[in-house]
Amino acid sequence: MARTVLVSTLGGPEVMEMVDIDPGRPGPGELLLRQTAIGLNFADVHYRRGTAPPHSQEKLPMPFSPGLEAVGYVEAIGEGVTGFKVGDRIGYATATYTWGAYTEARLFPADRCFHIPEGISDVDAAALLYRTITVQGMIRQCHVVKPGETILLHAAAGGVGSILSQWAKHLGATVIGTVSAGDKVERAISNGCAHVIVHTEEDFVARTRELTGGKGVDVCYDGVGIALFHRSLAAIRRYGLMVSFGQASGMMEPIAPVDLQFEGLYLTKFSGGTFNEHVDEYQARARDAMAAIQAGVFKLGNHLVYPLSEVKQAHVELESGETVGSLVLVP
Ligand SMILES: NC(=O)c1ccc[n+]([C@@H]2O[C@H](COP(=O)([O-])OP(=O)(O)OC[C@H]3O[C@@H](n4cnc5c(N)ncnc54)[C@H](OP(=O)(O)O)[C@@H]3O)[C@@H](O)[C@H]2O)c1
Repeated sequence: MARTVLVSTLGGPEVMEMVDIDPGRPGPGELLLRQTAIGLNFADVHYRRGTAPPHSQEKLPMPFSPGLEAVGYVEAIGEGVTGFKVGDRIGYATATYTWGAYTEARLFPADRCFHIPEGISDVDAAALLYRTITVQGMIRQCHVVKPGETILLHAAAGGVGSILSQWAKHLGATVIGTVSAGDKVERAISNGCAHVIVHTEEDFVARTRELTGGKGVDVCYDGVGIALFHRSLAAIRRYGLMVSFGQASGMMEPIAPVDLQFEGLYLTKFSGGTFNEHVDEYQARARDAMAAIQAGVFKLGNHLVYPLSEVKQAHVELESGETVGSLVLVP
């Protein structure tokens, strides 16, 4: 049996219950995984309370176990699976409507698993997988970050923010980060932000314009949503790009094409669900993300770790917006 977090009714952290579930035996193409570290993502909060974008939320089965990523060991192998053996350490990070990572053991499609390189702990890997694969899509394809570019990045001390700022700096970009509170500034700077703006104390558009000599940034990455999205358009240079990838503060209002016309801006909405849907693309992103981890692009060992039994508290803290970096559950 596997201790598993189950949600039967959408709502606050209190709707998550611990139950025992038999994970079953792997069918064709599946692995049975004994999990050792589970990454938390803001998406888990959205699905649990019902605030994910409607097209994703409506695919959610009920009851469901939250969670999109984990690290574990192969315990049994289904028919037709190649490339894995019992005892292998693997990870997965999915955005393709296969929830269920909040458990001690589970079945999972082998073609969406990959080996975790030596030299990285289970907790570090779980803290990084989903976000590094997401960020890979945002900085290598959605927009190709180039040396000398300037980026505006919201929630720069958060989970995705920490990864994106470290990787973008490594690629030679200058990152201007925003945070909501002064106590997050140091973390954002240690992530590689050249400048950090506390947007609750200072006009981030005016300050960004000032830092870029009046020009504006080449690209803005926004996972905060309604609180900052619309104002951010004014901080982007002529012909620059807005990448919206999340809505932690709430879904953005619709905008009209005319809102983009005066500076000739481009706008895109990034979704890991789309970019990682095809297995080959997903596996290529995972390889690139693992290579970046091995190359030392990201700081390790600086995460918030909770026993699986304290999942409610972990969600309270993530949902509060006060956490920095990644949160990990350990079964
Ligand atoms: N498109 C994709 O495939 C994809 C993949 C992964 C994540 N995401 C999205 O990326 C965003 C960041 O995800 P994450 O897991 O790394 O979370 P996170 O950044 O660790 O936490 C969310 C951050 O958003 C900011 N925030 C602003 N208003 C908030 C509010 N009302 N409630 C809570 N937080 C608020 C907070 O930073 P400040 O206090 O500094 O503002 C908070 O730390 C989320 O919107 C998530 O859904 C999208």
